Amino acid sequence: MPAYHAAVEHERHPLPPEDITAAARTSFDGTPDARLRFLLQRLVEHLHAYARDVRLTTSEWEAAIAFLTDAGHRCTDRRQEFVLLSDTLGLSMLVDALQNSPQAGVTESTVVGPFHVDGSPVRPMGSSTAEQEGSGEPMFVSGTVRGIDGPPVAGAVLDVWQNAANRLYAVQDPDQPLENLRGRFLTGADGAFSFWAVRPVDYPIPDDGPVGRMLAATGRHPWRPAHLHLMVSAAGYHTVATHLFDRTSPYLASDAVFGVKPSLVVDFLAHGPHEPGAPEGWAGTWYSLERDFVLAPAEA
Ligand code: BEZ
Ligand code: FE
Repeated sequence: MPAYHAAVEHERHPLPPEDITAAARTSFDGTPDARLRFLLQRLVEHLHAYARDVRLTTSEWEAAIAFLTDAGHRCTDRRQEFVLLSDTLGLSMLVDALQNSPQAGVTESTVVGPFHVDGSPVRPMGSSTAEQEGSGEPMFVSGTVRGIDGPPVAGAVLDVWQNAANRLYAVQDPDQPLENLRGRFLTGADGAFSFWAVRPVDYPIPDDGPVGRMLAATGRHPWRPAHLHLMVSAAGYHTVATHLFDRTSPYLASDAVFGVKPSLVVDFLAHGPHEPGAPEGWAGTWYSLERDFVLAPAEA
């Protein structure tokens, strides 16, 4: 609101007294858990400060409640509108940054997103995550998992998931087998891994709900740059949830969820169908990507 209007509003409706905030804050004084007490009292202070700052009106407050109610109604065991909201507000990446301070040489983390599914099938090294024809152009991914201190990490788990050529993750798409394009791969003694995936494609985050309406109302697009998700874990090391982004995507600089970090942008190398290593029976272009993952030791 322009300053002029804010001033006029202010004359008609003086700011309410601070003791509303104090009363709400002290109502939590008896919370036995100190961290919970701290979180709730700071939440009250920040929420009240926001309402005062923007001079929140009753109809705006009602619209916010209706928005959150709608977000709740959109959640199912396959759709998480609140995660989308957190992601599109930049909150998920902020929490990620607070949790995972960058360490030179260690693979950087980024947002997990709402499409990770626990318990993906453990697949043999070198096999494919694609369970259905038409999932996309084959892409061979290989590398080594090692600790920042140097040694290859045996028994590391690479949990990978991605979308198909139709832009959808299996959990969004009843026409894909539920475990399509996801799987877990376990490194051997040499820390090496390899698997076939498909070349990921740019895709819009689900935008047919309240978060999509927020993006549309604010002139923002819902697109994410093409990426492969990986969560890499190993005993004694800090788990990293990360992406590998396609350097050719036009959305690298405007990811709807702010997840791009320069160190995670890679080249998917194109190969002809007659080049060595081509997947059997595939007559088109295929891709390869070699990438190591470097883990930090878990905090003692
Ligand atoms: C994803 O990359 O899968 C994702 C992340 C945030 C919001 C929606 C999707
Ligand atoms: Fe994704």
